[in-house]
Amino acid sequence: NSVEGNICIVDELKNIFEFAIGSAYPDLEDPPIVITLSGNNPKFGDYQCNSAMPISQLLKAKNVKTNPREVANNILNKTPSSPFIERIEVAGAGFLNIYINKTVAEHVLNCILRFGVKPPPMKKERVIVDFSSPNIAKEMHVGHLRSTIIGDSISRILEYLGHDVLRLNHLGDWGTQFGMLIAHLQDKFPDFKTHSPPISDLQAFYKESKKRFDEDEEFKKRAYACVVQLQAHHPDYISAWKLICEVSRQEFQKIYDRLNINLIARGESFYQDRMDAVVKQLKDGGYLEEDEGRLIMWGDPVKKDGIPLTVVKSDGGYTYDTSDMAAIKQRVEEEKGNRFIYVVDAGQSTHFVTIDACARRAGILKNSQKIEFVGFGVVLGEDKKKFKTRSGDTIKLSELLEEGLKRSLDKLVEKGRDKVLTPEELKLAQEAVAYGCIKYADLSHNRVNDYVFSFDKMLDDKGNTAVYLLYALTRIRSIARTAQISLDQLLEEVDKTGFKFGHEAEWKLGKVLLRFPEIILKVSNDLYLHSLCEYLYEISSAFTEFYDKCYCVEKDKEGKIVNIIFSRLMLCEATARVMEKSLDILGIKTVSKM
Ligand code: ARG
Repeated sequence: NSVEGNICIVDELKNIFEFAIGSAYPDLEDPPIVITLSGNNPKFGDYQCNSAMPISQLLKAKNVKTNPREVANNILNKTPSSPFIERIEVAGAGFLNIYINKTVAEHVLNCILRFGVKPPPMKKERVIVDFSSPNIAKEMHVGHLRSTIIGDSISRILEYLGHDVLRLNHLGDWGTQFGMLIAHLQDKFPDFKTHSPPISDLQAFYKESKKRFDEDEEFKKRAYACVVQLQAHHPDYISAWKLICEVSRQEFQKIYDRLNINLIARGESFYQDRMDAVVKQLKDGGYLEEDEGRLIMWGDPVKKDGIPLTVVKSDGGYTYDTSDMAAIKQRVEEEKGNRFIYVVDAGQSTHFVTIDACARRAGILKNSQKIEFVGFGVVLGEDKKKFKTRSGDTIKLSELLEEGLKRSLDKLVEKGRDKVLTPEELKLAQEAVAYGCIKYADLSHNRVNDYVFSFDKMLDDKGNTAVYLLYALTRIRSIARTAQISLDQLLEEVDKTGFKFGHEAEWKLGKVLLRFPEIILKVSNDLYLHSLCEYLYEISSAFTEFYDKCYCVEKDKEGKIVNIIFSRLMLCEATARVMEKSLDILGIKTVSKM
């Protein structure tokens, strides 16, 4: 795999030290393999193996007389030579300081220049990502925006790694709320089948029908009757239902288009027939219990803790729980998924724990198959309270995106960019900043926490923000332009001489770039995207330090170019590529000028 340069150094080191420690201490069961970065001081090497201390403790517990330094020396003696390691030193109380072989690092960077930023190779899986999932006729709120942004980025990283990803929008498109919507539609637009009604504001339509439902007994009765007709698949009711769903879907699609999000609409209604089948399976298996007319299922039938699923309501209808049981069965059996990811607000964590437990009980999920619940906190306003408009209404997503666009333009104008960029460039920059800053603000926070939505903070050009990173990237991209070196010329030099490390600051930056595969593998496992954001920030800090200390182009007093250091331009190009790939995984568009 080292041919393409996409090696995960820390994994290689783990393998090497696992082998060394295993040979030095064959009697220890599962000895700790601790590999960390060495921090800023070059005299501690690039990485450290800190296994000697805990191993020495383990040996002492077995009455073996030893000390960490002796253990470290024993490990060192058993460490096989490796192309990745230049040398290892035992230091201090028993640290093993590892110096990475610069030739290997140069090879990796040359590969990035020749072939692009290739993902580490791995076994391909079929992954189902359930995300976004707003409810028809209700508003798509900021919680759904978080799910959309996080889910898209998770899909992107898995697609980058070569997995077969199914992006599913589990729309709330079935349920009793359709009774009142259809009844209201019949009254307001009796000829809806021949003349498509102008319902542009479906939320207002929803509110109107809800009001009637709550206040008018007669209407309520009709609404219930409509549910019965719909569930019996009466064609008139199905076409009314379809119409309402379609209006809603078009609204959602506008948001997805703006944010460049791809996903397949497969709502709760898709599982209609499959719900009959899963209910039968659960009944036949004896998993359902009667409870005040309902049929429920416990995750653990003995302990009976938490909340059971309501699989069948007392009126015979199905619920959200039923559709999720049908959905997991479909994803296992028909989609042949290996990973089942659900990106939903943290408030639903218990629901998914129970779905997982019940699906396991019923034999739908087997052995290592599990539901991966990717929960996230709520979006707060700057007053740390639930995010609302000034007048106290819930925020409309389309208005939020509009405001982002406006604010981002203000910011660019404030910096005088409207005088430098062409109108097309300005528009591209405006959109990249607006949508980029909203996505990045969400992704750069640990998702399990609540986060405060603040345009002022996300549009700051200092600190870990999209604006800062997008600027950093355009600055890096402008270096080769100033030197008047085209990419082709640079790549010719790569073929001739290749990249070579010089100054210490080059090595520091290079080492950060080398960690890309490690970060990608970590994030694709734990699905915490803020690690990738922190990594991006680390790259741009290392780049700033490098650029302060090392010139790439030397000019004389008249500003004429007298010397170009190609190897450093190569480092700039590699840095830009790793940053662009990382931003792409976060779903953030980059621009060449801004
Ligand atoms: N529509 C639901 C909501 O807005 C989210 C659905 C999440 N996905 C699922 N398979 N239950 O709360």
